[in-house]
Amino acid sequence: MDIVLYPDPRLRAQNAPVTTFDAELEANTRAMFALMYATAGVGLAAPQVGWNVRLMVYNPEGSTPNPPSEMVLCNPKIVWKSKEKEDGEEGCLSFPEIHGQVTRPLQIRVQAQSLTGEALEIELEGWEGRIFQHELDHLDGILFIDRMSPASKGLAKAALEDMIQIYKDQLASS
Ligand code: CO
Repeated sequence: MDIVLYPDPRLRAQNAPVTTFDAELEANTRAMFALMYATAGVGLAAPQVGWNVRLMVYNPEGSTPNPPSEMVLCNPKIVWKSKEKEDGEEGCLSFPEIHGQVTRPLQIRVQAQSLTGEALEIELEGWEGRIFQHELDHLDGILFIDRMSPASKGLAKAALEDMIQIYKDQLASS
């Protein structure tokens, strides 16, 4: 399992609902956590490992393995969001060199299914809410560069162009 980097089209593909809650699903999420910790991330969406399903893993405690704060959410959706929004700095494992400001609702209410298919409803805010919203965007083919402030996008422009060129060069040589 490897991280899919921008502009790989798998990051923009449709993601299918999770319908089978079995040992293979659990094994894949364990592999995603291992990769997330190895790359010092706090969240990872399935399409970022080339697996186009509606599943995310995250750990708001950071990049140290800590099972009580690990979250696996299948088929997540936002059922309520606050009018109040907050600006914050984000990065993304599919864009290793890029960071930028993104404005998002401060509080959200979420429905999802657990790794065993159990229905969940949770309220998230602040940092954890931000991680969730970033990962949910991945499940809809939306990337943080799509939501970045114009100033941040301007600062990232050269690095994005480099990533596109590297991707094209790899396609040409493969
Ligand atoms: Co991301």
